[in-house]
Order: sequence, then C-alpha cells, then structure tokens
Amino acid sequence: MSEMAKLQLGDRQLELPVIEGSEQEHAVDISALRAQTGYITIDEGYVNTGSTQSAITYLDGENGILRYRGYPIEQLAVNCDFVEVSYLLIYGELPTRQQLDEFRQKLRRHTLLHEDMSAFYDGFPRDAHPMAILSSTVSALSTFYQDSLDPRDDEQVELCIYRLIAKLPTIAAYSYKKSIGQPFIYPQNNLNYCQNFLRMMFAVPCEPYEIDCDFVDALNLLLIVHADHEQNCSTSTVRMVGSSNANLFASISAGICALWGPLHGGANEAVIRMLEDIRDNGGNVKKYVDMAKDKSSKVRLMGFGHRVYKNYDPRATIIKDVCNRLLKKRNIPDPIFEIAQELEEVALSDDYFIERKLYPNVDFYSGVIYRAIGIPMDMFTVLFAMGRMPGWIAQWLEMHRSESKRIARPRQIYTGEKERQFKPLDQR
Ligand code: CMC
Repeated sequence: MSEMAKLQLGDRQLELPVIEGSEQEHAVDISALRAQTGYITIDEGYVNTGSTQSAITYLDGENGILRYRGYPIEQLAVNCDFVEVSYLLIYGELPTRQQLDEFRQKLRRHTLLHEDMSAFYDGFPRDAHPMAILSSTVSALSTFYQDSLDPRDDEQVELCIYRLIAKLPTIAAYSYKKSIGQPFIYPQNNLNYCQNFLRMMFAVPCEPYEIDCDFVDALNLLLIVHADHEQNCSTSTVRMVGSSNANLFASISAGICALWGPLHGGANEAVIRMLEDIRDNGGNVKKYVDMAKDKSSKVRLMGFGHRVYKNYDPRATIIKDVCNRLLKKRNIPDPIFEIAQELEEVALSDDYFIERKLYPNVDFYSGVIYRAIGIPMDMFTVLFAMGRMPGWIAQWLEMHRSESKRIARPRQIYTGEKERQFKPLDQR
C-alpha cells in the first residue's frame, strides 16, 4: 500500500495519499481536502505547491540537475540543435533522422508572416519594447490563422505548433528592424533556425550578409538551455490560460507577458543594465553587493537567486563557459563580463548569499553573449521567449492530454469587510 500522510484538524484525523515521482520526489495529494473537511490550503507564490504531475523536465535544485525528457542538459547542449531539442520536448523522444528532417521541413514552410501582419509594426511606436510587440503579435496570430485555433483538434494544434516555432524568429526580427528603421528581411528557408534569425536581424538588402558560425553555435546553445524549466511563472501562465481551452496562440501570448517581468525572463536585460551601472559608477562591485544585502535599498542582485536552485544553476555554468570561449576566440574583450565575474566572486564569498544559497542563474551571463552577437539589450528577453517556446508548447499539450485536466481555478481566504449595508452617495 502506498504511503499516506496524516492530517490532524481539531479532533478529526484525515489520511492523505502521498504521490511519488520517478525521481523519488514526494507530494501530499490534497485534492479531496476541501470536499472532506471544508478546509483549503494556502501557499502564496506556490512555494510548496505542485500544480501538476509532469513527464517533461526534471529539475533538482539542491544538486543543480536539469534534464529534458530524462536527458541531461549538458549532453543536449553539446550534441543537439535547437530544433532537435524542440522535437524532444514536444513529442517526448529524440527524433530519428527521418522524423527530424520532416519536422524541419514543416517548420520551414511556416516561417513567413501573413503579409498584412507587417502593417501591425507601423501601428507600434518605434521605441516600443519588443516583448510588448511579441506578445501582441503572437496573440494576433489567432486573427490571421483561424484554421489552427481549436485546442481539441490534434491537426489544428499541430499546425499551430509549426506556426509558433517557425514564425517567432520572424516576428522578433521584424520588431528589431522596425525599431531601427531598416526594411524587414524575409526568412530564407534553406538556412537553419539560428542562421535564419541572425540574417533577418542583421542583413540589409543593399549588402551581402555573411552568417557568423560562432554566433550561430552560441545562439543555438542559448536557445537549448532556455527551452524548458518545468512549472515556472510563464509556463504556469501558459498552462493556466490554456486550461480554459483558450487557443495555443493566446496561451503563449500570455506566457510571453509573464516572461517579460524582471523577476523572470526580464532579468537578463536587468543584469546588463546593472553591470553597466556598476561600470559607469567606477566599477565598485563590493558596494553593489552591499546594496543588494540592504533590504531598505530595494536593490537585488539581478541574475542571482532562484526559487528552485539552491546551488549553481547548471544553465549558468554552460553559458559562462560559452562566454569564455566565444569572447576569447573572437577576441571580443568585454569589461561587462569582467565585472560580472568579479561580482559573482564577491557575492559567492559573502555570508548573506551563502546562507540564502543564492547563486548565478541562467540570466546572469546570457546577456554577455547576446551583446557579443550584437543583439540589443531590449531584445534579450525576446530571445528567451524564442528558446522557451517548445517548453511552453510541450507543457500546454501535456495539460490538454491529461485525463485529469480541469480549469485552473485557485481558491482564496477572504479577509475583506463582512456584509454591510449600501449607503447612498449623499450619506457617505
Ligand atoms: N539579491 C539579493 N537578495 C536576494 C536575491 C537577490 N538576487 N534573491 C533572493 N534574495 C534574498 C531575499 O531578499 C530573501 O532574503 P530574506 O530571507 O532575508 O528575506 C531570500 O533571499 C529569499 O528570496 P525570495 O525572494 O524569498 O526567493 P524567491 O524564491 O521568492 O525568489 C527570485 C526567486 C529569482 C525571484 C529572486 O531570487 C530574485 O529576485 N532574483 C533576482 C531576479 C532574477 O535574477 N530573476 C531570474 C530568475 S532565473 C530565470 C527565470 O526564472 O526567468
């Protein structure tokens, strides 16, 4: 018989089943709690609450382990390209050569945006944040591609998946081109995913554009390490919106908004702003660390700390290594990278960070690579969204295919006024 947890509520004792995951993680199943007792649980920020069982990504924050579908992130990062990892996340297995070729082919057929969508970009102010453009445009895909909206129709969902993965680089690059007043560059489908994106970002019609293979490799790796991270804020948003049977475009658009926040994906942009600020104020790293420790300052060390990792984020290890190799190989000295490493060293030897187990996270070094590639700061989180797309899709699909799927609808404990009588305006 499986393990049971005992809950004492006054003089009543309740037995609650314990669920065990494939890596021996344990959860107390409270799904019958309210029906049996009238009580609910409260857990702000979901610090102790599992929202689902999932077979996609395994994360062990204490030991710094991250695996997609059982494969360690370190192995995927050196052996795969992003499209292959996307297939793995979405369909559950590494593809055969034929499956991969077919998948690539399908993505290639969907890289173009409906021509009328380019008019959208004229409506946004030139200095609009590209994350706002991204979420709006992804949401607007549901106006142009109405043949792929039904979440209960597998063929429509499949089409929607190709469209999302294939069009995101085009949407992203167009927002950059608009912001700098250059013409849009159409996708070129004989190029691979990252080559195509870099060309759409940086080519101009009047000059030949040579794609830099070091940048392609670095970008590919960054997309892979961002591809999924189980039930984080944006993924939970995608699931929550999807749980109402909203279409996949709408669900992903909501996830993009959640990712934008500086406590989540927006941290990669905030890190570089912080490092530049330190540089511009004389490079005093210690002073900044002291400010981050001072609660009254409201300053946090961006790119540091994580809800789940209480150890070095394995993605940060991979990214830091790429930073080192790329900057050395291409001889791109970046004082920002020097400051980042110094900041890490000071923080990691400080009791405040040691006691709280705060380590660099995925966002701490990624911006250094984006800078080296020439990607502007406000596009960093857009790149995160491009990487996270297969994870969001996989999680949305898993939720829809689950036998136990229900609309996500948390409860609350009401703390407001008790019933009171309405007062007409002239008596208030
Ligand atoms: N700098 C200074 N203090 C910190 C930091 C930080 N970056 N992160 C956490 N703390 C402190 C926090 O003040 C608290 O201290 P105390 O126990 O004295 O009150 C303690 O550490 C625990 O922090 P928390 O806010 O309760 O932890 P959380 O799990 O709710 O928040 C976090 C996690 C990632 C939002 C937070 O660490 C943070 O704000 N980090 C900076 C932003 C950042 O880098 N975000 C990217 C996260 S990784 C990628 C992603 O999710 O997109």
